[in-house]
Amino acid sequence: MRVFAILYTLVAFAAAFDGSGASNSGEIGSDDNTKFGDLVAWVRRNGGRVDDRLGLKNHQHGEVSIRGGVALLPLDEGSELLFLPWKLVLGTTGENSTVSEDKCSVLQYYASEVEAGPGSFWYPYLALDDSLSSIGRVPSLWNDSVISELQGLPPFLESTSGLTGWFSSNCVDGVPFSSLPRSNRQALLAAITRAAGMRFLPIYDLLNHHNGMLNTQSKADVKGVTITITRNVTEGQELFMSYRGGKDSTASDTFRRYGFVESWPQHWKLIDDKDGSDASGGMQFLLLPDKVVTIFPTDSILSQIGAPGLQLSDFLASTHNHNQMISVERLIGFSRFGQDLMSSLATTTKEDNVILRNLRLNLSQQNLNSIKSEQLRDLMSAVDYRMQFKESIQMAIDAAEKVLTLIIGHGVKCIQNVEGAGDNK
Ligand SMILES: *[C@@H]1O[C@H](CO)[C@@H](O)[C@H](O)[C@H]1NC(C)=O
Ligand SMILES: *[C@@H]1O[C@H](CO)[C@@H](O)[C@H](O)[C@H]1NC(C)=O
Ligand SMILES: *[C@@H]1O[C@H](CO)[C@@H](O)[C@H](O)[C@H]1NC(C)=O
Ligand SMILES: *[C@@H]1O[C@H](CO)[C@@H](O)[C@H](O)[C@H]1NC(C)=O
Repeated sequence: MRVFAILYTLVAFAAAFDGSGASNSGEIGSDDNTKFGDLVAWVRRNGGRVDDRLGLKNHQHGEVSIRGGVALLPLDEGSELLFLPWKLVLGTTGENSTVSEDKCSVLQYYASEVEAGPGSFWYPYLALDDSLSSIGRVPSLWNDSVISELQGLPPFLESTSGLTGWFSSNCVDGVPFSSLPRSNRQALLAAITRAAGMRFLPIYDLLNHHNGMLNTQSKADVKGVTITITRNVTEGQELFMSYRGGKDSTASDTFRRYGFVESWPQHWKLIDDKDGSDASGGMQFLLLPDKVVTIFPTDSILSQIGAPGLQLSDFLASTHNHNQMISVERLIGFSRFGQDLMSSLATTTKEDNVILRNLRLNLSQQNLNSIKSEQLRDLMSAVDYRMQFKESIQMAIDAAEKVLTLIIGHGVKCIQNVEGAGDNK
């Protein structure tokens, strides 16, 4: 499934939703197992190809167990994992890659196929679509009181209800999203979280997103979509795809759309560059494992995000030198911006921890499917996000301070020359 919420705080509830079949071994429930077998058989019956070594398992992401693709046996770089003829790509028409210009009609079609149940051609695909699951709800579904818990942090600026609002006014005569039939809501949520340009790729879209550990890629041709392995994968390793990449793939945007914070590279951008220049300062950085931070990454670094075959070592190798080349002035601006931002926020991480604990307590007293518990989970997701945000900003500040300290030989003097004496932090 699309990773809805990699929220370590939600672990108890994720476990509750995993169903009886879930266990520490990562086995998915027997129900999902049957559905996956049916899906594979359906793809093969209809002219597709599925490697026998591709499986579906629960994976531990942080403290949460999440369904996703797995290599049941080793897979070699370059080998084909999956082939889907266009006929099996929901959303396309005419047995080629063409998607209707009319997005509403695609969504309406999806909803009507959901309603058709086992009678639908797409049933094996739709049976594994858990877009309506209440474990993690995407920020598009949050109400204003939840959004306010983001404390003004991005992505608050862009209306988080943009997609649901668009759907209501363009596709369903203004009926509010929450009042729509389940099938309509499922269709839109699936489109938000699973589709690639309104194309739904069976089996492939069960894979989770990870731009750092990406090990598959897709290529389209006249016949269909071929998914290949982009680096050797060992037995039991998770298979990943990229939901979005490149320089526009920021952690806030990914969170807004999918409801999770990417693990790495985590790309934060707090710069107003609407005029095309980042001269205004602000902060932009990549967070890599082990608290390595690439400060003000260049476009050529950013363009590697989500590119197949990228290795962490490539990023790490470039980061150290890159950071040293940034001017002291920009480093100071970066660190200052971060510190000002941190001190402007309404709560500290310590307070957030208490708030989160209380929310979790309140949630434990609610019926899991009630509106109240939905609201509490949304609130927890928002608080969790702002905590991750703060943690990342703090790491970036620390990294900038460290680089400044490294060049302290002329550093302190530079700081004072640039910023005025007595102002060094
Ligand atoms: C795809 O199929 C549609 C409908 O049959 C046709 O109009 C269109 O030209 C085809 N497009 C391509 C790229 O083959
Ligand atoms: C958001 O939803 C909750 C639960 O339904 C409700 O109590 C709260 O008043 C709502 N807030 C806003 C601003 O709509
Ligand atoms: C991948 O595995 C194949 C065969 O198992 C091996 O020949 C090849 O060298 C491996 N490639 C890398 C980059 O490790
Ligand atoms: C959670 O419960 C505490 C005390 O039981 C209460 O003060 C607080 O307002 C509740 N929070 C929410 C969001 O319901």
